[in-house]
Amino acid sequence: MARSILVTGGAGYIGSHTVLELLLGGYKAVVVDKLDNSSEIAIKRVQELAGEHGSNLTFHEIDLRDKPALEKLFASEKFEAVIHVAGLKAVGESVQKPLLYYDNNLICMIVLLEVMAAHGCKKLVFSSSATVYGWPKVVPCTEESPISATNPYGRTKSDSTWKIILLRYFNPVGAHPSGHIGEDPRGIPNNLIPFIQQVAVGRRPALTVYGTDYKTTDGTGVRDYIHVVDLADGHIAALKKLADPSVGCEVYNLGTGKGTSVLEMVAAFEKASGKKIPLVMADRRPGDAEIVYAGTEKAERELNWKAKYGIQEFCIDQWNWASKNPYGYEPQAP
Ligand code: UD1
Repeated sequence: MARSILVTGGAGYIGSHTVLELLLGGYKAVVVDKLDNSSEIAIKRVQELAGEHGSNLTFHEIDLRDKPALEKLFASEKFEAVIHVAGLKAVGESVQKPLLYYDNNLICMIVLLEVMAAHGCKKLVFSSSATVYGWPKVVPCTEESPISATNPYGRTKSDSTWKIILLRYFNPVGAHPSGHIGEDPRGIPNNLIPFIQQVAVGRRPALTVYGTDYKTTDGTGVRDYIHVVDLADGHIAALKKLADPSVGCEVYNLGTGKGTSVLEMVAAFEKASGKKIPLVMADRRPGDAEIVYAGTEKAERELNWKAKYGIQEFCIDQWNWASKNPYGYEPQAP
């Protein structure tokens, strides 16, 4: 019998890629998602991509705050572990609507932990974020770096009281190489790559570059962009680590250890897509750090995991997804 893993937020960007890797790895995946920022079409495509393993995926449209619904699910099936990816993640919105973020990201976590405990399921992989490092005084950021959540979104991601593996994602980008699943943000994208992608397909006229006076090689902000397929693999590595009895609560960075500037990213995307990305230079975006990239030794050593892909690969995969799905999972412009 395949081992069953519950994936919250499994229809979203990170979740869908993780579910696919689970299925291909021989696991059974049960997805719960409330489809606020995601699409059921992603589930269907993951099923197709998984081929013969596709039938090991089941989907339930559930809001995690709906405790009776979650209880019912746990009563119907025994889960070996939970991968909790569901959450709201727009930093700007979290500052404007902190209660919405605490309600979603904390209440979901509390209800989930209560139901897990009641059913004797005590293995959890939780998606945290490099946002907890704030503006780091020293790079690379290691798991021991001080955490300073500078916004409500960050604060909802820094609870480490349970026995779990916390994965601190750096900047997930790219898409599955098939181009069938990828990131499909609602509204105006906050993040760099989805915005560049929408300029490339003609949905937006130009990219605004936030800040050209940082102390970096070309003055623009530097981040650690990691291919979403590598990130998904990191979840499988974490699941395997949970079988190790010595694990209590552990934190791992998932990044590449390499920094890339905004302008380097634009150049790589232009090369991969053959499209010119018009730029508008602007002031720094409030709350942004100058340089953030990961120390990767701990994940390499203890999870036996390392990112395989680099900037050219994820730009090619991003463009493949974008050119096949210019409006994401919607067939055309809304
Ligand atoms: C943001 C979030 C972080 C989240 C991550 C997911 C903040 C403070 N943090 O990080 O919590 O986990 O996304 O990937 O927002 N940029 C532009 N123009 C744009 C958009 C971005 O120049 O239209 C620049 C930014 O100034 C930054 C870089 O591109 O230097 C990356 O920005 P973004 O993709 O938003 O990621 P982060 O700010 O690193």
